[in-house]
Amino acid sequence: VERTLSIIKPDAVEKNNIGKILAHLEEAGFKIVALRRTHLSRAEAEGFYAVHKARPFFGELVEFMTRSPVVISVLEREDAVDTYRKVMGATDPAKADAGTLRKLFGSSVGENAVHGSDSRENAKIEIAYYFPASEVAPSV
Ligand code: GTP
Ligand code: MG
Repeated sequence: VERTLSIIKPDAVEKNNIGKILAHLEEAGFKIVALRRTHLSRAEAEGFYAVHKARPFFGELVEFMTRSPVVISVLEREDAVDTYRKVMGATDPAKADAGTLRKLFGSSVGENAVHGSDSRENAKIEIAYYFPASEVAPSV
């Protein structure tokens, strides 16, 4: 089975939507195989979003992601990466389909409630970025 990395972003944690989002994910068939609530440091957020360093919104993105705690999890199911992207919806909540996490819980392109890995390759990199191997050992 496949795994992907999810982050419940500061806006959603501030609005007390952790439980609703995790329930939505379980109902969509994901197993939560690792879970942590943490306040990202500037260095952690900059490292995580390094691919976006040249984008005009990079500073804003790092400010936002370090504003208050996030909830990071590893999600497991068949076709996890692509399925989670569909469950999240479009980056801009205004353009996201009805029933998606970003439509339900996001408020703007910056404050869009959740992150999800965009490829299987990046999922592996992002899971290793936040979780030690011992916490994401395969189920037996
Ligand atoms: P992630 O799952 O968070 O990676 O979102 P994504 O893959 O749908 O979008 P992308 O990787 O292109 O951008 C990463 C994140 O940067 C987005 O989720 C937004 O939070 C933020 N972002 C993207 N575009 C803008 C923008 O124009 N302004 C601001 N403030 N933030 C943006
Ligand atoms: Mg992305």
